[in-house]
Amino acid sequence: MERFHDLPVSDRDSVDEPFLPQKEKGKTVSINEYKKLRRLLYYSGFIIVSLTVACIILAVKLEHTGYTPFFAERVYSPVEDIIRYENVVFSTGFGHERTEYQGPPTPERDALWDDLYGFGISRIPRESASKLVNKTVPIPGEPGQYVIQLNVFHQLHCLNMIRKSLYSDVEYPPDHELMGIEHIEHCYDALRQSLMCSADVTPLPWQWVEEVQEAKEVARVAHTCRDFEAVRTWAKENAVIHFDRKTYVPDDLQGH
Ligand SMILES: *[C@@H]1O[C@H](CO)[C@@H](O)[C@H](O)[C@H]1NC(C)=O
Repeated sequence: MERFHDLPVSDRDSVDEPFLPQKEKGKTVSINEYKKLRRLLYYSGFIIVSLTVACIILAVKLEHTGYTPFFAERVYSPVEDIIRYENVVFSTGFGHERTEYQGPPTPERDALWDDLYGFGISRIPRESASKLVNKTVPIPGEPGQYVIQLNVFHQLHCLNMIRKSLYSDVEYPPDHELMGIEHIEHCYDALRQSLMCSADVTPLPWQWVEEVQEAKEVARVAHTCRDFEAVRTWAKENAVIHFDRKTYVPDDLQGH
């Protein structure tokens, strides 16, 4: 039997011929058009599958890098790239679940608190500094380096001052730099704004407690947290040991 492509041209044309008059009446499509349509379907199918796969890959990647890019006007942070997420089970702070951070100040306990934020101010390179929404100043004697503090360390400092003032019976003048009531009031209001800003929406469940025959709210639950150790490690590695705040450094990035 003759194969299709071996047919003389005139014979091949005749294959299409019966369709032509009908096509002109708009009742059906030719084999060629059918093939075109089928190809179009394959292409669109291919594009849909590729886009779906791309979306899944992107979603998985975003979940791993953590920092949510969906709010376009978000304020830039120089540590965006090191942000990781982890689930942390909080402690109730009662009874045998009391943490080493609780209780009246002792040298050991104060050292623990200090180690949460004591390396507090950090250097960032000019490239990062240029992206800040609120500009900062250069570090005197360190060309190309700029000073910032990550807010979490300011928060921890403030909480520590409140903790110390809780146990202190010393009468500080209201404008005492750290322990005066003005600073303490600055501190708890800074924490109020921060708590509202991050709005931890982890659901706290209730559980029936046999001993007291009553339902109680539960604190010992998992929360999704930024990995604090990763942030602390960055801050320790980029700590500014000595910041001479009395020296003015002229700068074109504009730090007022
Ligand atoms: C920091 O930037 C915000 C937003 O542009 C602005 O409202 C605020 O006043 C700035 N702060 C300072 C100290 O310039």
